[in-house]
Amino acid sequence: MTTDLDSVRAELIASVDAADSLDALEAARVAAVGKKGSVGALMKQLGALPAEERKDFGQSVNAVKQAVEAAIAARKETLESGALDARLAAERVDVTLPVRPESEGRIHPISQTIDEIVQIFGEMGFRVAEGPDLENDWRNFTALNIPEEHPARQEMDTFYLRADAEGNRPVLRTHTSPVQIRTMMNEAPPIRIIAPGRTYRSDHDATHSPMFHQVEGLVIDEAIHMGHLKGCLIEFCRTYFEVHDLPVRFRNSHFPFTEPSAEVDIGCTRDSGELKIGAGDDWLEILGSGMVHPKVIENCGLDPAKYQGFAFGMGIERIAMLKYGIPDLRTFYDSDLRWLKHYGFVPQDIPGALGGLHR
Ligand code: PHE
Repeated sequence: MTTDLDSVRAELIASVDAADSLDALEAARVAAVGKKGSVGALMKQLGALPAEERKDFGQSVNAVKQAVEAAIAARKETLESGALDARLAAERVDVTLPVRPESEGRIHPISQTIDEIVQIFGEMGFRVAEGPDLENDWRNFTALNIPEEHPARQEMDTFYLRADAEGNRPVLRTHTSPVQIRTMMNEAPPIRIIAPGRTYRSDHDATHSPMFHQVEGLVIDEAIHMGHLKGCLIEFCRTYFEVHDLPVRFRNSHFPFTEPSAEVDIGCTRDSGELKIGAGDDWLEILGSGMVHPKVIENCGLDPAKYQGFAFGMGIERIAMLKYGIPDLRTFYDSDLRWLKHYGFVPQDIPGALGGLHR
């Protein structure tokens, strides 16, 4: 009796193709080509055959075995890629969802505001420059065209440290303007920097803190004029306050280190005590600016006949309070977690050009 090998092959391949999981396929494999499987059983018939038929039959059974094994391999590949697809679908992660549980920590409004300022000026081609909190008198005052006995020295309520052996008294910088001096002394124009950092004045009430933050800006090149100053600061004010038609006013002023000088006001309304930034009938002063005084350029070893530029400075707490409606300056330094939870920023809210300054 010989078995119909064609129909055996067809049956085994059908059982392989019917396997709907990797486990079912393994069961079909064992039943077909496993030790005690159908193909093994056929091989056992070999011994009972007449010698002249054995070779042919053996080769045919082997062909069946190979065909079944090929079908198993093909089915395995299909099931595996299906299993991967199913796993990918089941484990799909929506990366646009907010982090859960929401992170506990908060970015302090001062840090957030500095990040926003750096982002805006960074896109205009400014880079960040730094200087130490402890300065010498020359960089904080003299080089900035504030000589001895100048009233600005008294107005700034300077913290002086004990004099060194040569009689020089270090000062806690009263503004970030000494970073202008450091930059002009160390770098060749064109210069485009902003310098955020801590500043100190001996003053303490609801609108003054002995330590506060400023950001300085400085541009020095060969053909810089007041139009550049205005364009740059108007753009900054509108972007920072996120009011595209925000009125910006340049009001004549005086600083020893700039000539001409201008204080910059933005439009606002104050209806029944509530301050709103935008076109209105009132103005808010937010920064000081001007064309760098030729004497300052000269003090830094640059030729004022060749180079000119503009500078500006503003209080970071002040513009943070205005934008985020923070009523009391002193609360910035209270380290009150409830305050930080309320006014702070989620760490993932990184100010950026694409996502907006903040969410
Ligand atoms: N340094 C000035 C201040 O502290 C601000 C300022 C900087 C003004 C640069 C003009 C130019 O008040």
